[in-house]
Amino acid sequence: MRLASLAPSAWNAQTWRFAVVQSPDLKEKLREAAYGQAQITSAPAVIVVYSDMEDTLETVEDTAHPGMGEEGRSGQRQTFDRVFGAQDVAQRGQWGLSQANIAFAFVMLAARGLGYDTVPMLGFDPAKVREILDLPEHVQFAGLLPIGKRAEEGFPHHRHGVERLTKFY
Ligand SMILES: Cc1cc2nc3c(=O)[nH]c(=O)nc-3n(C[C@H](O)[C@H](O)[C@H](O)COP(=O)(O)O)c2cc1C
Repeated sequence: MRLASLAPSAWNAQTWRFAVVQSPDLKEKLREAAYGQAQITSAPAVIVVYSDMEDTLETVEDTAHPGMGEEGRSGQRQTFDRVFGAQDVAQRGQWGLSQANIAFAFVMLAARGLGYDTVPMLGFDPAKVREILDLPEHVQFAGLLPIGKRAEEGFPHHRHGVERLTKFY
């Protein structure tokens, strides 16, 4: 989690939050919320990456770098109030999620670097996951991430070639 929390974000907002679920009982419930997908209970832990833009806004001064002093803290407050104050919760929640998605990828890369395997998942009912983890209505999920060690080799990755994806100028 420490490595993943080094992910960058716009204005250093760090909208991501993590819930690490190891309890067999809770994993069973998460599995039900994820339409029975077995990797939730076969993995020793499930990392839930979500964004909480409302918490970010309430505590946004803490995201100003200490090196910028009191001026940095009040500047951070003014920026966020100006940019997000007029937006509704869903709209700014979407922005928060776009930042949390960066941390989601960082968790996968950090895990792989440490020799673990993960499965990124969006196949679940978000309302149910909020209820299971007792999270507020406004949070948005980057995804669930069962983490463990692979039991067997899967297929190699199948991806577009770089030439198909990239224009060079
Ligand atoms: C945002 C996202 C959501 C995904 N949701 C699921 C899921 O709910 N269940 C699942 O088994 N795999 C899920 N996947 C895994 C993809 O199917 C998988 O990454 C893709 O088929 C490529 O396979 P590979 O990463 O093993 O090469 C998801 C991947 C991403 C990035």
